[in-house]
Amino acid sequence: MYVFKTADTIITKVGIASEIGEHLSQLKQHVQKALLLTQPALQKSGAVEKVVASLNQAGVSVDVTTDVEPEPTLSNIETVYQATLNVTDYDVLIGLGGGSILDTTKLLSVMKTNDMSLDEMLGSDQVKQPGIPTVLIPTTSGTGAEVTPNAIVTLPEKELKIGVVSSYLLPNLVLIDAALTTGLPKPITAATGMDAFTHALESYISNKANPISDMFALEAIRLISANIETAYFNGGNIEARERMLIGSMYGGMALTAAGTAAVHAMAYPLGGKYKIAHGVANSMLLPHVTQFNMDAIETRLATVAEPMGIKKENQDEKEMAQAVVDRIVELTKILEIPQDLSAYGVQDSAIESMAVAALDVKRLMDNNPKQLTKEDVKAIYGKLLA
Ligand SMILES: NC(=O)c1ccc[n+]([C@@H]2O[C@H](COP(=O)([O-])OP(=O)(O)OC[C@H]3O[C@@H](n4cnc5c(N)ncnc54)[C@H](O)[C@@H]3O)[C@@H](O)[C@H]2O)c1
Ligand SMILES: [Fe+2]
Repeated sequence: MYVFKTADTIITKVGIASEIGEHLSQLKQHVQKALLLTQPALQKSGAVEKVVASLNQAGVSVDVTTDVEPEPTLSNIETVYQATLNVTDYDVLIGLGGGSILDTTKLLSVMKTNDMSLDEMLGSDQVKQPGIPTVLIPTTSGTGAEVTPNAIVTLPEKELKIGVVSSYLLPNLVLIDAALTTGLPKPITAATGMDAFTHALESYISNKANPISDMFALEAIRLISANIETAYFNGGNIEARERMLIGSMYGGMALTAAGTAAVHAMAYPLGGKYKIAHGVANSMLLPHVTQFNMDAIETRLATVAEPMGIKKENQDEKEMAQAVVDRIVELTKILEIPQDLSAYGVQDSAIESMAVAALDVKRLMDNNPKQLTKEDVKAIYGKLLA
């Protein structure tokens, strides 16, 4: 039995964010007052202004907040909650931004309707009630958070990140608009694109992989592999940007159906303690963890060569699987993603506690096709400190 849930409605069209007011009829209720959560970069690009203008034209008044920090901590989310939702009632929460914004929008929605603290929501299926309606508009490609039932919270005191997982976090409406991502800076294009690739690959080799997740994972791998370099080197290419957005959304659907694994578990301490951007942490770990998993996944990994566009005639399974890992290493170099943890202040002496924290992310470690011991985890972190 496979269960798959996603957003109620997804609309893709270049420029659709600027027409948001015309699409609120997709929600099952009349909207008069909206809270827009966004990031300063989207104010600078003019995207916020266009979204607000379209909402106003549809008779919706809008409050805007940019107080959500990148990869927000529990206390940052609580501060935003106190500063906004206690002031007035909103009919809809709109998230316009990267995964940090989308996750926070999803969390505020259920914090509003559940008589629980955010702390009590951490983990799987703790949220009791549906939230107020949400519209999610991703501006990185990306986390796929617009279609996942997950929201990730940083806990600095535990030096970790932890997920809230609940189908009540799924949004009512998703707008996929490539016009928002043409100005995404190169390092963010690279890191968030590789995060999306990691979602697809980890879902594909996850212990929970199934026909539904496989379909989304393989198509995400195909779209991202074919377009990530163009998006990186020629950010204004709207076709490449749109395919990256759709690929990252499929990555989110794949991980919803199957779950990510050891790469994401090991990335959490890097984000939680050293503030290494989520996509960068995943990109660093992906080749090493995939190589570690190799003997358990060789047959499956070989089938990824074709959607990655690197399959050669007369290659046997072993060669194809190895070519996939080699291509990931090559991509991270082409995309200029850092590979050295010491540049972020990580020292050898920290590896022990990072390994303990990563192994504690059982929700994800249990999905990994090969069990990792503490020594295995330490050895993989160690490769990034060489
Ligand atoms: N919910 C999920 O399923 C899921 C999956 C993966 C990751 N995540 C979480 O998502 C967060 C990371 O999200 P992210 O990688 O999208 O980054 P982000 O939201 O933290 O944004 C990174 C930076 O990009 C900027 N930015 C965003 N869009 C831009 C644009 N169009 N133009 C210029 N700048 C722009 C932001 O202002 C920010 O400075 C992490 O907390 C991670 O754990 C969640
Ligand atoms: Fe991720």
